[in-house]
Amino acid sequence: MSEINYDYIAQYIRAIRPESQGILKEIELKLANNEESWPIIKPEVASFLQVLLSLQKPYKILEIGTAVGYSSILMSQYLQPGGKIITIERFDLMQRQAKSNIKKANLQDTITILEGNASDILPNLEDKDFDFIFMDCAKGQYINFLPHCIRLLKDDGILVTDNVLHKGAVAKSKYLVPRRQRTTHTRLREFLYEINHHPQLISAVLPFGDGLAVSHKIGGKNIE
Ligand SMILES: C[S@@+](CC[C@H](N)C(=O)[O-])C[C@H]1O[C@@H](n2cnc3c(N)ncnc32)[C@H](O)[C@@H]1O
Repeated sequence: MSEINYDYIAQYIRAIRPESQGILKEIELKLANNEESWPIIKPEVASFLQVLLSLQKPYKILEIGTAVGYSSILMSQYLQPGGKIITIERFDLMQRQAKSNIKKANLQDTITILEGNASDILPNLEDKDFDFIFMDCAKGQYINFLPHCIRLLKDDGILVTDNVLHKGAVAKSKYLVPRRQRTTHTRLREFLYEINHHPQLISAVLPFGDGLAVSHKIGGKNIE
């Protein structure tokens, strides 16, 4: 089911996608058969990442939110030869499953999982040379993680952030949103405001999947 689009449109877009192969297909089948309930990116988000990455041909990718390694494995197909992915995951069950999937895909030399909370790991990451960052973790943290993403991204790098519209509720008046969700939504709104007004970013918010934000880091230049 789609989060924010008409179901028939999301279903059509999903139906015309080429079939995944190997471990990606295996993960998708387990979910489709309700054998597991892992969180993975939606097919239309996967297609969009594939287009961006095949255009950009990154050498280094940072991901915040590994889950079972689905998006890391997908993104690894678009790395330059010798390229690497660093992916952060705090939940041990997910870490174990991701390691097993990455091993099955024979990608242990390409994908490194950093185990722990991104709020502890990001401030200590020193490699400021990521071409691409995919942020797909706790939505309330996006606004806190944004300065790290900007610091760690190369000039001309791309930041993609998933689930930014949270079933569309972020775009609704706060009085229509249940009180317990307001903090997350307020924080997502702050995040979306910041990426749209930051002098080093050019951003677009795309209303598919659960809302996807794409930001291009243009370096020290101010945008007129
Ligand atoms: C939506 S899932 C990621 C899905 C994954 N990117 C994929 O498509 O295959 C979000 C994951 O982020 C992890 N997570 C959430 N907040 C985190 C944080 N602050 N630090 C590290 N991991 C976090 C969760 O445990 C969960 O496994």
